[in-house]
Amino acid sequence: MWAVAPLLLLLLLPPLARLWRRRAARLEPAGRAVLITGCDSGFGHLLALRLHRLGFTVFAGCLYPDGEGARRLQREAAAGRLRVLRLDVTRARDVLAAKELVLSHMPERGFWGLVNNAGISTFGETGWLSMEKYEKFTDVNLLGSIRTTLAFLPLLRKYKGRIVFMSSIIAYFSLGNGTYSMTKAAIEKFCDALRLEMKKFGVRVCIIQPGNYARCTKIQPPISAEEIWNELSEEEKAVYNKEYVQERVNFFNSMLSKGSTNGNEVVDAMVDALTSPAPKARYMVAKLKEKALVFVCALFPTIVMDSILSYAQSKVKLA
Ligand SMILES: *[C@@H]1O[C@H](CO)[C@@H](O)[C@H](O)[C@H]1NC(C)=O
Repeated sequence: MWAVAPLLLLLLLPPLARLWRRRAARLEPAGRAVLITGCDSGFGHLLALRLHRLGFTVFAGCLYPDGEGARRLQREAAAGRLRVLRLDVTRARDVLAAKELVLSHMPERGFWGLVNNAGISTFGETGWLSMEKYEKFTDVNLLGSIRTTLAFLPLLRKYKGRIVFMSSIIAYFSLGNGTYSMTKAAIEKFCDALRLEMKKFGVRVCIIQPGNYARCTKIQPPISAEEIWNELSEEEKAVYNKEYVQERVNFFNSMLSKGSTNGNEVVDAMVDALTSPAPKARYMVAKLKEKALVFVCALFPTIVMDSILSYAQSKVKLA
């Protein structure tokens, strides 16, 4: 009988924690600054608009400050609390300039949050991508987040603020976008160290792990097999054939098309991470099926997940 007590407690804990989180007072956004990277489109764009509406002072980093997304934010900025800035996270001087801008326009309550959202994705088997692609991915997704974090850490410590990182359930396994997975898994570990170290300063570190939301953002548009094929080296072409590439691309595109369409679910989690009195270390925003896959990865030997993933792709065979 008593053997089930720990299990019962385990089941009761999440609803109790939720109740406590709801009871505690929310944060007052007025007079607090948040910097978001990658606001041209996708979650960063949606979050910039949402935080502005909530009353935050928003610094919206855009790769293309003259682009369509940035211009839409500028129109919203009429109220003066939302500022669009040029921010290429791979450029140290952009990051420095962003810090200068924040410092010179600091609202009364100081710097509250950094949202490392900027990211890129691609499709392809490991040997299909060039070394330059790997460098680019690491520079944007991983080093980009580290670069901004290092720059804003002193301010975050001073104001006991929050850092939000975009990861993915794809940090646990990979299905066609291994390069992206690799950078997200690295971010997870970077955060694990940072979260523990920042605790003593009252700085909270949160990770958002969306499932498949490819349809809500521009991060991964459907792939063209033709394009992938043309980029393969002669050595790769000798091993793979066009049909194989086409089949893999079809499979990947069909996965993308099954993605969720409500990006606001992810933005809700980002807002909670920034405003909740007791933010979670990880927000997994995914379908039950996607969560089940993560569960399998965590609990079973690697061979189990490998079998599931190879079964999912078994229609595609190398001729
Ligand atoms: C990565 O691949 C998975 C599985 O094919 C897909 O669901 C997801 O949307 C992709 N994510 C990105 C950012 O490319």
